[in-house]
Amino acid sequence: FAFLGLSAAENGLDGWLRLPSNIVTLNATEASPVYVAGTELQNGLKGVYGKSAQITHKCKTSSSVVVGTVDQYREICGAVKDVPELEEDGFWLNTKGQTIQILGQNERGALYGAFEYLSMLAQGNFSKVAYASNPSAPIRWVNQWDNMDGRIERGYGGPSIFFKDGQIVDDLTRVAEYARLLASIRINAVVINNVNADAATLNATNLDGVARIADVFRPYGIQVGLSLNFAAPQTYGGLSTFDPLDASVIEWWSNITTQIYDRVPDMAGYLVKADSEGQPGPQTYNRTLAEAANLFAKEVQPYGGIVMYRAFVYNQLNESIWTDDRAKAAVEFFKDLDGEFDDNVVIQIKFGPIDFQVREPPSPLFANLFNTSMAIELQVTQEYLGQQSHLVYVAPLWKTILDADLRVDQQPSLVRDIVAGKRFNRKLGGSAAVVNVGTNTTWLGSHLSMSNLYAYGRLAWNPADDAQDILQDWIRLTFGLDRKVLDTITRMSMESWPAYEQYSGNLGIQTLTDILYTHYGPNPASQDNNGWGQWTRADQTSIGMDRTVSNGTGFSGQYPDEIAAMYEDINTTPDDLLLWFHHVNYTHRLQSGKTVIQHFYDAHYSGAETAETFLAQWESLHGKIDTERYNHVRHFLDYQTGHSIVWRDAINNFYYNLSGIPDEATRVGHH
Ligand code: GCU
Repeated sequence: FAFLGLSAAENGLDGWLRLPSNIVTLNATEASPVYVAGTELQNGLKGVYGKSAQITHKCKTSSSVVVGTVDQYREICGAVKDVPELEEDGFWLNTKGQTIQILGQNERGALYGAFEYLSMLAQGNFSKVAYASNPSAPIRWVNQWDNMDGRIERGYGGPSIFFKDGQIVDDLTRVAEYARLLASIRINAVVINNVNADAATLNATNLDGVARIADVFRPYGIQVGLSLNFAAPQTYGGLSTFDPLDASVIEWWSNITTQIYDRVPDMAGYLVKADSEGQPGPQTYNRTLAEAANLFAKEVQPYGGIVMYRAFVYNQLNESIWTDDRAKAAVEFFKDLDGEFDDNVVIQIKFGPIDFQVREPPSPLFANLFNTSMAIELQVTQEYLGQQSHLVYVAPLWKTILDADLRVDQQPSLVRDIVAGKRFNRKLGGSAAVVNVGTNTTWLGSHLSMSNLYAYGRLAWNPADDAQDILQDWIRLTFGLDRKVLDTITRMSMESWPAYEQYSGNLGIQTLTDILYTHYGPNPASQDNNGWGQWTRADQTSIGMDRTVSNGTGFSGQYPDEIAAMYEDINTTPDDLLLWFHHVNYTHRLQSGKTVIQHFYDAHYSGAETAETFLAQWESLHGKIDTERYNHVRHFLDYQTGHSIVWRDAINNFYYNLSGIPDEATRVGHH
């Protein structure tokens, strides 16, 4: 804990005097989250006070930290006072009395409370508090896109910590470390294999391996889930069909599910990507997506499992048809099935209608399902956002979606309330993030990217939290309490997403990257003339997708009336989504007064200039950050400075050559 450098006076003198000499863990079973909480407290407090507290399992009245569930406390220590009714996974933290109380609604909650207490102390916060904290939603999952051969789809932090050469690795040390990280940000389930799933994950040896992985996650309160391949009964099981209504197929899945739950009785459930990007699905047999989801839902239901069914379903399209629009796919596929999904099915919806772009409107599907549980899907791995070679703190982008009000029935309908199940009274709901950590010691590939993982966990627990406040907690926990370090990393990080948007894709045109394969580096030409539907429709005079009802694809009509009306009208569409909703001339004037093309030119220069300052800002911290991390981050920022110029010039030159319109500041085309 970096704050050990601080004087006692700065920390609050009584903080030091209150070193608890005992840690009372109310569960003595080693693999229990409460036991783990006790060990974390012992290690953490030693880091803070330099002395070890004793762990006991008997209630002590003074100079102790008690950790356990409310029920365990009642049984072992007696009546609980002041503790409000807690929700599942919630906790109560009271540092005011003789004894510090950390009480969870369940064991997982107790562990979260222990991390909360340690996080306070590590940030130099010794104030006396007494409060309850409850999750916004029950589903706080992460997805790993790990393949069985050890490669990770869209992973930038090295090979898988789970799989190698078609099997589960022997040494699960890194898995335990990942479990600890995830528990500290209150993640309660992890899907360990790629959504583009390999059916061989289901062979007996691998299921034994999955059980070993689940055993490692369990003490941290984290359940394991699996991605399924819809065609597995045929391609792997040898049946003649994978029709979800066929009796032999149902029996096959039933048998697999039993085999899994025999080994992992608390398996979280299944994640399903079907009928999308070449993946098999129910459409082969003219079955509905609901029939497909319910097939699995019925199997896991007796075990308390759930099915996360992805809304990322779309077909290849034809750009010569003006009304073809991939953004419409999710609503078209799912809206009419509302109410047909079993109660333990959750539709997992990417935050925007396309694919984790630098700027998108919220997916309209959030406002089209009223009798179906939903979760929002976010991406920590920076697939379209610089792939960990660019500093991009993504939480402010997520907040534009979570805080958006979709005005269903003219009522406040924040996306964060919809996915939490609060707006339409659903029991299930929450979020999932594609994380893709690997064996790299930085986990994601670069140190600063970890702010995104930390922020994801915080927002999954409380989506109303402020992106900058979250960031600052992360900075203090990661780099210590130095004021200059805090201010500098805060500034760089908060400037990073706007800068990235400026040099990679403005006005809602999407990230102008190579969309065909790498999703990395500038390639504005790759967006169009293919069936993927991430089009810009740029020609010599005009650009943008006309998604209006009156003259375009009709996508804007998928939103509730007030929002639809705002996007339908070019005058009320915010500049930052103009080209998402409208097709305009390059000379069209924005609300800002600039023309579209001049905005492009200026923004690309401005974004690259901001990125260049990151290096100097970081270098001002020389001597305040350990050498290893200082140099590692410096290397990436140096690279980002250059690459943002590559982005700037590639995109500006592309549109200059296409439109022939000169840059008012005579920069573009004058190199
Ligand atoms: C993106 C990504 C794919 C991934 C897909 C998904 O298109 O590039 O690698 O499989 O999303 O979310 O299923």
